[in-house]
Amino acid sequence: MTKMRLDRFLSQSSAFSRKEIRFLARTNRIAVDGRCVRDPGEKVEETALVTVKGKVVPYRKYVYLMLNKPQGYLSAVRDDRDPVVTDLVPEEFKHFQVFPVGRLDKDTEGLLLLTNDGAFDHALAFPRKEVRKRYFARLDLPAGKEDVEKFASGMVFPDFTAKSALLEITENPCEVFIEISEGKFHQVKRMCLQAGKTVLSLKRVAIGGLRLDPALLPGQCRELTEEEKSLLLS
Ligand code: URA
Repeated sequence: MTKMRLDRFLSQSSAFSRKEIRFLARTNRIAVDGRCVRDPGEKVEETALVTVKGKVVPYRKYVYLMLNKPQGYLSAVRDDRDPVVTDLVPEEFKHFQVFPVGRLDKDTEGLLLLTNDGAFDHALAFPRKEVRKRYFARLDLPAGKEDVEKFASGMVFPDFTAKSALLEITENPCEVFIEISEGKFHQVKRMCLQAGKTVLSLKRVAIGGLRLDPALLPGQCRELTEEEKSLLLS
């Protein structure tokens, strides 16, 4: 069983700062397994029942968020000029210091995952896993059957060869779904361009078996459920 300092337990699992934790401990507001603890350095188990002002604070190290990324945000944790996706993380998750899993272009919207779990990020990015990403794109020109074939047969670029991709044309031939299993820089836009079309807008709607929650407005985010997490890693 892993033991750690009480202040570490609480600073990882809640938004309390070390200073606040010291104050709360000194003023008898923290209990561990029903016993008041005044020493923030006391060692506690991960499984301990820790309460602050009577409220249970379960131990957690990692968080996994689904964001509906709006246009205009960089998939980064900081930037001197532009807003970044971590600006959109609600206050209650800020202390987890999440980062984006992969990236979407500044003008792309839709499903972006954020976590502080490096192993999760690595597992999803692992090329052999070939996690499929599904996009909805609006094109300047209608797509046709010959484009479906072009996408399916893979495309050669100076810097990489795109694997076979799925192009699904909707009732409106200028609106398509595209599924790719890699994530090269501007890949969808470049594939469309090679087929003679310009992408006017792009939205990621799914990663593997995980779909963007339609209840999330652009800029909103929520935690993944355990089921959703396993959908991604299965
Ligand atoms: N392909 C692109 O061209 N842009 C993205 O943001 C994602 C995939």
